[in-house]
Amino acid sequence: MMVGKSMELQQNEQRFELLADLGAMIAGEVELDDLLATFAARVARALGADRATLWLIDGANGEIRSRVATLPELAELRVPQGVGVVGHVAATGELVNIRDASVDPRWAESIAKQIGYRATSMLTAPIIRRDQIRGVLQVLNKREGTFDERDEDFARQLAEQIGRALDYTTLRGDDASRGLSVRGRFNHVIGRSPAMAAVYEMIVRAAQTDATVLLHGETGTGKGLLARAIHVNSDRRAAPYVHVDCTTLPAGLVESELFGHERGAYTGADSRVIGKVEAANGGTLFLDEIGELPLPLQGKLLRFVQERQFERVGGRETLTADVRLVAATNRDLAAMATSNQFRSDLYFRLRVVEILIPPLRERGGDDISDLADHFVQQFARRYRKGKLRLAESTGPALTAYAWPGNVRELENTIERAVVLSRGDTIGIKDLGLRSLAGASDSVAGMPAMSSAAIPIDAIALPPGLSLEEAERRYARAILDREGGNQSAAARALGISRNKLARLLRG
Ligand SMILES: Nc1ncnc2c1ncn2[C@@H]1O[C@H](COP(=O)(O)OP(=O)(O)OP(=O)(O)O)[C@@H](O)[C@H]1O
Ligand SMILES: [Mg+2]
Repeated sequence: MMVGKSMELQQNEQRFELLADLGAMIAGEVELDDLLATFAARVARALGADRATLWLIDGANGEIRSRVATLPELAELRVPQGVGVVGHVAATGELVNIRDASVDPRWAESIAKQIGYRATSMLTAPIIRRDQIRGVLQVLNKREGTFDERDEDFARQLAEQIGRALDYTTLRGDDASRGLSVRGRFNHVIGRSPAMAAVYEMIVRAAQTDATVLLHGETGTGKGLLARAIHVNSDRRAAPYVHVDCTTLPAGLVESELFGHERGAYTGADSRVIGKVEAANGGTLFLDEIGELPLPLQGKLLRFVQERQFERVGGRETLTADVRLVAATNRDLAAMATSNQFRSDLYFRLRVVEILIPPLRERGGDDISDLADHFVQQFARRYRKGKLRLAESTGPALTAYAWPGNVRELENTIERAVVLSRGDTIGIKDLGLRSLAGASDSVAGMPAMSSAAIPIDAIALPPGLSLEEAERRYARAILDREGGNQSAAARALGISRNKLARLLRG
């Protein structure tokens, strides 16, 4: 009994470290392929399995390719959409847990032959990013028993982290040997409006000091991009830039994530883990979605913000770290402080320099069309669409639309239009008239909406849906309304982000 328990704790520990390291890796913008290669072995180990493979979907032709797998390394495998378990997961976005693969109808003998490996149990999770299925994480052969619900949850968390990592990468379909190339996007901050010029000036001025910066703006306005811009414009640019997303970690892990933990802090912990605060030493620590930080942790963070001092979980030694702090939120921290949801002393410490990022609709038509052109070029390259441009007629429609999801929504809209485009021009229709209902109204002479949300008057649900499917469709509609922002949608629905993700994936 004792042995079994401590093994479970040890496994918990391994799982946590894996998630934390993957988070650091995302922030580090390093060669993704190299890191993922050692990563596959660790995924397999943390799940008590023999093999793990990461499959990515080639945006250009929908083909699913194995990118990294546990050793022995196999030649790259390619699976057409819909074929085999991987194809099924890539097509449906459904997590599949199979006890005995050989009797599962989705198991494709043709792929099994290529792998040359007998699979019994198999856990296959979709990698979904911004409503798009980007790849598949597959783990084969649990050493003892079969994969359970905990394994499923962990696989989902891993897949989510990998999805984030892919945001910083481009999969080149034409040259598989080059594989994923990682590039930072911070040097592509687009927009010439006076509203943005004021933001740049603040960013550059703040960057030259070590002052704590609070970025405040609606979802999708570019807070993540600008946080990075502060780092690369500062003297700390050669030192680490470390991103902590306060929404993604379970509350119980946030402290350890931030400050690290000592060997033995949890029973079965056999190694010391450095927290993000230490990892950022000399550089910049970006506290994203700070409004979601649990209250008890706010006190601990306050001490660090004031004195740059902290202790690892389970440690007695007081440590210091030299970091510049940048925090971001789309919440009204002042109001939260008034209602005691956010510590006001922390709020005052964070807003030494507070920069308000204007919503896209307040930046004017030139910024919108510059951004739209930029995204058309970017995605035309990524999806190998050759020369593509926006039709003249799209200009007024893009300008009139209220863009509740801001730059991210514009980016998603253009990406979809590029993917679906046939000729060399993108017309108004290609922009997806359903979600652009606000724009067609204003084109017809009605004023553009200025509220932050698209009102949902009614959602048509055909009778005969299961309750589960009805819930899923409702959640999708709310997600659309929130411009694809899962945190905001989860808040609106009164459920956790994890629950929302589960609901959407079905
Ligand atoms: N000015 C800009 N120029 C180019 N790309 C931009 C700009 N602003 C935002 N983007 C892009 O739009 C997307 C959303 O930006 P980002 O993630 O930084 O928003 P955010 O404010 O952090 O949103 P959230 O509050 O939802 O986390 C990203 O892909 C980002 O690269
Ligand atoms: Mg963000």
